[in-house]
Amino acid sequence: MAIRNLREEGDEILKKISRKIDVIDDRIKTLAEDMFDTMHKYDGLGLAGVQVGVLKRIIVIDLYDGESKFALINPEIVSLEGNIVEVEEGCLSYPYQFGKVRRYEKVKVKAQDLDGNNVTLEAEGLLAQALQHEIDHLNGETFKEKIIPGTFEVIKPEEQ
Ligand code: NI
Repeated sequence: MAIRNLREEGDEILKKISRKIDVIDDRIKTLAEDMFDTMHKYDGLGLAGVQVGVLKRIIVIDLYDGESKFALINPEIVSLEGNIVEVEEGCLSYPYQFGKVRRYEKVKVKAQDLDGNNVTLEAEGLLAQALQHEIDHLNGETFKEKIIPGTFEVIKPEEQ
């Protein structure tokens, strides 16, 4: 296992568009493992390749509920459904920053898993939110630009 360096606010790579993955080789599998390790170290719910400096279309998600933990290769939004809701969000590339953004309640995503199988996911609630957030990263978009004015907050842990 390995923790990779997180790319943070101000790093231009966060605005770049990630490239499609054609072959899921050992390098991609190792990348996915490292992304899980890095996300878990910082208690994140999701992480995109670009956030560890790799401009490839891969995301990992873990909602810590025992079931919603997976890596997706080349995820694409097939449809956005339900109401648009205002939800609180943060991002490992923007430490201590939070704000409300607008997300669809439900999303359908197609992707491949790490074995190259085509998968389709229908998600709602927090999982739908996390998928929209991470897929945005692959398109060079971050939650920071989507924060609803007046809802931005910086919340630092108490100094030890
Ligand atoms: Ni993020």
